[in-house]
Order: sequence, then C-alpha cells, then structure tokens
Amino acid sequence: MSLFGKTKMGYALVESMHLAPWRTLLEEGIGLQVAHADEEQLAFRMDGHARRIIVRRGPAEDVIATGWQLENDAALDTVVARCRARGIDVASGSAEAAKERGVASFVTVQGPKGLPIELFTEATRAETPLEMLASGFVTGDGGMGHIALTTRLPDDVERFWGELFDARLSDRVAQRIAGVMLDIAFLRLNERHHSMAIAATRGLRLDPLRTKVQHVNVEAASIDDIERAFERCRHLGFEMAHEIGQHPNDHQISFYVITPSGFEFELGWNARKVDEASWRTASYDAISSWGHKPERAGLVHRLAENAGNFARGLHSLLNPEYAPLRKP
Ligand SMILES: [Fe+2]
Repeated sequence: MSLFGKTKMGYALVESMHLAPWRTLLEEGIGLQVAHADEEQLAFRMDGHARRIIVRRGPAEDVIATGWQLENDAALDTVVARCRARGIDVASGSAEAAKERGVASFVTVQGPKGLPIELFTEATRAETPLEMLASGFVTGDGGMGHIALTTRLPDDVERFWGELFDARLSDRVAQRIAGVMLDIAFLRLNERHHSMAIAATRGLRLDPLRTKVQHVNVEAASIDDIERAFERCRHLGFEMAHEIGQHPNDHQISFYVITPSGFEFELGWNARKVDEASWRTASYDAISSWGHKPERAGLVHRLAENAGNFARGLHSLLNPEYAPLRKP
C-alpha cells in the first residue's frame, strides 16, 4: 500500500521556559485561539482540532515532537511495520501524553536528528466555535503546515520520509546564504507542496543551528491575515527573521517571525497545491522570488550571527547526528 496522500502534519509540541511570550506571539500576533493555558502548558487551535500547537514548560527551547495524522489504522499499521522491518523502535504514547497532544492515542518513533515523529489517526475535536484574530487557517487534506530542519545527513532524512511515508520530491532550491551554499529539498506527503523541508550545507556538512527545527509553518486563509499578523507581531515587539516575501517553488507569500525559543515561525498564504498528473520536479537558485528581507540586516548583527553560527557549525562536526535508518 502506498501511504502517499494518507499522511499529514497534525501538531507540533514545543518546550520552552517562556510561556507568556509564546502566548502573546501565537494568540495576539499570529492570531490562533488559546485552547488551554496554565502554569505548565499552553495549547492552541486553528481549526476543528482541539490542539494544533502545544507549548509545554521545559528547558529545550525547541520543537520536541511533531505529530503526523494517518488516514486510518491500516495506514498507521503500515508505517509501524515498515519501522519494525528496519529495526526502528515503535513505542506507545501514554494516555496522559495523548491528552496533552489532543489525540485519542499515538505511537512514537525516533526520527531524523532524534526528533520524535508521533503517529496518530484520531484527533480530539474542539467543542466550541473558533474565535481567533485570524480569519482562518488552511489545514484539510494537506495538514496543518510544514516543518523545516537543517541536517548533516540530508540523504538519510530524504530516505527516511521516502521509505516510511512514500514522500515525493517536489523540488530543490540551492542558494548561497552568509557565504555558505545551502541545498534545500522539499518533500510532500499529500497535496501540500511540502510537509518537510530539508536544508544542508554543500561540501563540508555543518549544522549551524542550536534547535532541531529551523521553522514551523502554518498557512493562513487570506492575504489580510498575513498583513495583519505581520503588523501585530511587529507591534508586539517580535523580531522578523524575514519580512513578507514570496517563495518561487510553492508560490507561498509569507513572513518569518523569531519565536521566544529562537527558532522561526512562518505564516504563509496561498501555497499552490501539487497536481500529481502534471507536476514536474524543478530546481531553483533562490529561496525567494521577492522580499523575505531580514529585519536586522546591519553589519554588526550579521557578523555576530555568522560568527555564532560558524562556531556552532564546527561544533556539530564533533557530534554524530542521529539517523534512524543507519545501523550503528
Ligand atoms: Fe517554510
């Protein structure tokens, strides 16, 4: 059985010590609805699911798990069987953990970079109407959005998603950023142009980021949502990693705001859907067709960022990156 079209992004679980600014960003900036808030945990919704983004108190300052919704039990069993056939452990999540994520039950596997990939079929539905600053979010058959990560083992990450979920390559982008050539592969699991973006430095493979995830993306329903959310985030004092611009491959118009945990959050609009009958895989030489300018492009900031990233990149050479399909 092919799993293409049967898997979609379901949720993201974040761990942070900065719950108050996270709430401000997602509720007042991006415009999501708070589904739950206490001293230890925040949960947000954007559609009929009870929870889409969960921020739990803790030191990671990163996405600590991503949830993926399978169409039915047969599809879930297929992934589990594929994992077991490859020696990848599959563990059951506890009832308490399922409640935290807003799903009936889930299983978890250690994904690329050691980031847990959690699999579920049934999401808890919200019982109240949506009330949020944004007019709406595009989820449906394409899922809640996408995840982007940097890796030193891009071939392994592509293989993981290809072998376990029948992911297809939508396109590739190569661009020089801060003097380093970056190759990015965009993988789709369904009609959404990409659910995973995988970035790697060309030549010597460095991982310049502290966080496992470079950004999380969600898709707003209208261009007004983008402009208003951009203004609100600005007004609330959040820094833009990249101001409004457009990607040449999925045509999405978006901005990237820096979250209280340091990774980026992309709010996009109007990503084109892939028509499997006519799609041709392409290569692009720029990540943006216009815009996406960094808010702080000053020389001092650039030097400081690059020095930090370079040091971290060198440090990454000393630590092997976890790849599920590699036998130790
Ligand atoms: Fe993105």
